[in-house]
Amino acid sequence: MSTQSTGQGHEASEKHGFSTRRAFILAAIGSAVGLGNIWRFPYVAYEGGGGAFIVPYLVALLLAGIPMLFLDYAIGHRLRGSPPLSFRRVSRKAEWLGWWQVLICAVIAVYYAAIIAWAVRYTGFSIDQSWGADPEAFLFGDFLQAAETPGPTLEVVPGVMIPMVIVWLVTLAVLALGVQGGIGRVATVFIPLLVVAFAVLVVRALFLPGSELGLDALFSPDWAALGDPSVWVAAFGQIFFSLSVGFGIMITYASYVDRKTDMTGSGAVVAFSNSGFEVLAGIGIFAALGFMAQAAGVAVSEVVANGIGLAFVGFPTIISEAPAGALIGLLFFGSLVVAGLTSLISITEVVISAVRDKLGLTRPVAVAVVGLPMMLISCLFFGTTGGVYVLDTMDTWINSFGILVVAAVAMLLLTYVWRALPALADHMNRISSIHLGRWWFVLVGAVVPFVLLVILGQDLWNRLETPYEDYPASLLNTFGWGVVIVVPILAVLLSLLPWRSGLSLEDPGEEPSSRGPDERDVPDAHASTNGTAETHGTVDQEETR
Ligand code: ALA
Repeated sequence: MSTQSTGQGHEASEKHGFSTRRAFILAAIGSAVGLGNIWRFPYVAYEGGGGAFIVPYLVALLLAGIPMLFLDYAIGHRLRGSPPLSFRRVSRKAEWLGWWQVLICAVIAVYYAAIIAWAVRYTGFSIDQSWGADPEAFLFGDFLQAAETPGPTLEVVPGVMIPMVIVWLVTLAVLALGVQGGIGRVATVFIPLLVVAFAVLVVRALFLPGSELGLDALFSPDWAALGDPSVWVAAFGQIFFSLSVGFGIMITYASYVDRKTDMTGSGAVVAFSNSGFEVLAGIGIFAALGFMAQAAGVAVSEVVANGIGLAFVGFPTIISEAPAGALIGLLFFGSLVVAGLTSLISITEVVISAVRDKLGLTRPVAVAVVGLPMMLISCLFFGTTGGVYVLDTMDTWINSFGILVVAAVAMLLLTYVWRALPALADHMNRISSIHLGRWWFVLVGAVVPFVLLVILGQDLWNRLETPYEDYPASLLNTFGWGVVIVVPILAVLLSLLPWRSGLSLEDPGEEPSSRGPDERDVPDAHASTNGTAETHGTVDQEETR
């Protein structure tokens, strides 16, 4: 990658990106704060030593999460493209890495939408506590109608599929409205609302009788847990998923940001807001679990559950028993819906922006061509009686053998094969408040990939030793191993397809933008014949589309 400007404008129109730094930061927070914060973090923290978990968590955040976030921002902001285009601009041989990230996003999006759809239904169920006396039987029986044998089926569950269609249509409508008009505007309105709603929920939970038992359980440090490598695995996995780093989202969002924006300063705001929200969620959820344990006369450890169990079994129980339970339900499930939607929007945008870059489609056409098939696949797999098992398997595998593997591979190749870090650091240091010095090179080029490889080795060993959840091998081999192996192969194939003509595949370098923020993926009808587009010639053209 050259550190020199190519002297050519990139292909984009310069008018459709995030209109302000604030809109970008809120959209990035909207992407980061998601289901991972609300239902995954409290459990991971509790299992990982409670108060002592703060050590691996902070180490993972400071040593891996934030440096990786800066790397993603540097790639997207300098190279002005979706992941495949950005990596292609790093090196001719790098494009497949971008497609790998895009396909990981596609996989996550199809099941993530299902969980949001469940939360939509549960927001309604909270009003009259439709789950009755046994929320677990209600979830798997009446609501999900989960098949007896784990595995995919074709039996549609309308009560799940219909809200899924709604979730997808809302997501695609926001994306069709564009970066600022859709993504930026939704984040600007809903992220402050989410913070207020969640803060009210946490305060309400803290006033429930027994809340102190939950907080005691969460914050009593078990220092011995720090000697357990799986706790460190969990901390790093949590940080990558929760910060939305390493799988293309932050590259895509950064490519829509004005050339002169302070990217590292913005990244620090995003990272600490995300972690702040995570800790807030931990406090609120454990306060509520303390109440639940006291009401049932058992220890908190007996009522703690992971993911699906916590949100869709534990919370309904709390809502049924707590004073003003319906309010707690509306706030909790409403927050899950909003946090989930703003993350789903970002995950799906990665796929749409990559397809637009490659084929030169307009945004509405790309949203339809990419989004509708994703919606169909999502509904067919997760709106059926086998959905919950497929979801659980895919989520577990794609998080470690998808996200963490692609992150480690990208860091190693960018550092040692394409030697891209100096140019990227140089780019960030020209515009940003936090200087990327030697510390960043050491972390991104050595420490983080090394830690990730150790973590992955350990996880691989665990998975091979013990069949996950005792699910049948056919399910794990198809939707676990099968998916994570097929994704990079498909990525290589996609990278062999030709780019639309008229698109510059060169590093745009440090060319200053005269037009402010851009949506760099708008196809350029007036590309110059030498394969580079003329930025200034495209804007008016795009305005007429
Ligand atoms: N960062 C998003 C989450 O935490 C994907 O759910």
